Amino acid sequence: MKNRLAQLIQKDGKALFLPIDHGYFQGPTRKLEKPRETIKPLLPYADAIMLTRGVLRNCVDPANTKPVILRVSGGTSVVGEDLANEELTTSITEIVRLNASAVSMSVFIGSKYEHQSLINLTKLVDECEDYGVPVMAVTAVGRELEKREARYLALCCRIAAELGARVVKTYYCPEKFHKVVEGCPVPVVIAGGPKVDSELEVFEFVYDGIQKGAIGVNLGRNIWQSEYPIAMIRAIRAIIHENYTPKEAQDLFEQVKAGKA
Ligand code: 5RP
Repeated sequence: MKNRLAQLIQKDGKALFLPIDHGYFQGPTRKLEKPRETIKPLLPYADAIMLTRGVLRNCVDPANTKPVILRVSGGTSVVGEDLANEELTTSITEIVRLNASAVSMSVFIGSKYEHQSLINLTKLVDECEDYGVPVMAVTAVGRELEKREARYLALCCRIAAELGARVVKTYYCPEKFHKVVEGCPVPVVIAGGPKVDSELEVFEFVYDGIQKGAIGVNLGRNIWQSEYPIAMIRAIRAIIHENYTPKEAQDLFEQVKAGKA
C-alpha cells in the first residue's frame, strides 16, 4: 500500500494526476477522441494517469511506466436516466493483473443512489486493501454542478475517507475550501470540471486549492481541451511542484506556448 501511494504522491507530498476516463459515460469527448494521441505529449509531465481498462488496453503502450489509476465504476451514460446509478465494473483480479497503482470510483452523496455508491465504495475498499491497492473516491455531482460548495463537498470527502478511501478527489470551491480539506483525514486532490474561459482562472484555483491544503489535482479537460495542452500541464505542474504563483504560471504558459521554454 505504502509503495503504491508513493508512486502516486511524490516526495514533496504533491501530485498531478491526469484523468482521461471521461469516455466511460460521455463517449468520445472533445479532444479525447483518440486517447493515445491526447496523452502522448502530456505523459512526461503527469505523476499518474486515470483511465478505464478499455483505454489502458487499447491506447496505452504496455511498456508505459507511468502509474495508472484505474477507473472501476460505471454503467451509466450521459443519455441514460441517472448518472448516479453506477456499479463496480472491474474485478480485483483484473485490477491486480493490470498492475494498477490505485483505483478510482465515484460516490454520489445526496442522490437517489447514495447508499448504493457508498456500499460499493466499502466493497471496493475491502477487496483492494487485501492487495494493497489504494482507492481514490471521486465525489461526483453528476449534472448538478451547483453542488460544488464547501459544506456539501466537506460532507462528501469526510464520508468517503471514513469508509476507507485512501485519497479523495473533489471539486475546488472559492468559499471556505480549507474546510473541505481540514475535515478530511486523507489527501485531497482537486478535479477541474468543465473547461473554463481563461488559463489564469485555472492557475488561480489550482494555486488557491493547494494553499488551502489540497495535495494536487486530478485535472483533465482544462489541460487536454486547451489549445496549448503542453503549456497548460507544465504551468500547472510548476504550481504544484515548484510553488509557482498564478502569475508565474501564466508567464511559463506564455513562454512554452511561444516555444521559448
Ligand atoms: C469523471 C472524472 C474525471 O476524471 C474528473 O472529473 C476530472 O476531470 P476534469 O478535470 O475534466 O473534470 O472523474 O467522472
